[in-house]
Amino acid sequence: DPPSPPGPLSFTGTKLVNDRDHPWRPLRNGDIRGPCPGLNTLASHGYLPRDGVATPTQLINAIQEGFNFDHTAAVSATYLGHLLNGNLVTDLLSIGGKTSKTGPPPPPPAHAGGLNVHGTFEGDAGLTRADEFFGDNHSFNQTLFDKLVDFSNRFGGGFYNLTVAGELRYSRIQDSIATNPQFSFKNVRFLTAYGETVFPINLFVDGRQTERKLSLDHAASFFRDMRFPPDFHRAAQPSSAEGVAEVIAAHPWLPGGNEDGQLNNYVVDPNSADFTDPCSLHRFVLGSLQELYPSPTGVLRRNLIKNINFWYTAAFAPAGCPELFPFGQL
Ligand code: HEM
Repeated sequence: DPPSPPGPLSFTGTKLVNDRDHPWRPLRNGDIRGPCPGLNTLASHGYLPRDGVATPTQLINAIQEGFNFDHTAAVSATYLGHLLNGNLVTDLLSIGGKTSKTGPPPPPPAHAGGLNVHGTFEGDAGLTRADEFFGDNHSFNQTLFDKLVDFSNRFGGGFYNLTVAGELRYSRIQDSIATNPQFSFKNVRFLTAYGETVFPINLFVDGRQTERKLSLDHAASFFRDMRFPPDFHRAAQPSSAEGVAEVIAAHPWLPGGNEDGQLNNYVVDPNSADFTDPCSLHRFVLGSLQELYPSPTGVLRRNLIKNINFWYTAAFAPAGCPELFPFGQL
């Protein structure tokens, strides 16, 4: 059986995490990395398996231990990624591309394809990753990082802060509207796109520092090199999406996409999950899972039910959302 998710850390303060037990190492042949600079960094320091393939338990432990990511967010993000992109039979998720290391995938349309799969968790208008339409949705993109640097110089006095996050988020949306005919910015992606803009402020800034601003050499260390800066101490308290309301408020925006494959044709989708209804993500993802798994049986069905329950318990029960059972109950 897939085990229940691990609990919170017992010590939740700052501490040295770029320590002797977790040295950065360059990639070996076959090591997998993907679109998430947080997970890439944890794998390159051995908080996650260095090959980039991990169980939900390993992910929840690593993001808490290495970054002080808060427990609720850790469990919520992990099962979201695992349910959409993991192998639910073997309990393994690739943090990047598809690999035989996660075991044989369930029958199509299920894919167990890892975090690189576009339009599931990964999506358009990333900060330092290009849109899938342009051919590579997961690698560090120097041109986009240069834009992050430029915005940090213009709006943040040479640092990445909340003001920069608000401006860059909005500008990346406008870039995609103007250049990506397949631009999609709804449901899972609409919600994650905002969180990702504040993670660098809440989690990539050294926990001993009081000012909430990320230096550009530290930004490059995480986004490009997948490496903690020297002597890096994790956040001083459990953190995740603090400040996201300010980013949204800088340029309020609604979920949607370029319609009919046409540039500059952004149409709002009133049926998308959004921030106003905390249960909408749950409903949307369970709908996607029913498409991915039209008639699961045996271990696959049992693990779907268990993982969905782990995710619900952490992410949606506290908001009072109804528990849903698209695959029945055990
Ligand atoms: C982006 C997954 C935890 C920081 C992403 C993306 C995925 C992902 C799929 C790509 C989204 C896109 O732009 O299309 C996950 C999962 C997590 C997790 C499954 C937990 C298990 C974290 C943590 C941090 C983090 C703990 C920070 C310490 C970021 C940042 C981006 C990102 C900054 C934006 C990258 C960019 O747009 O350039 N994550 N992530 N993530 N993640 Fe994570």
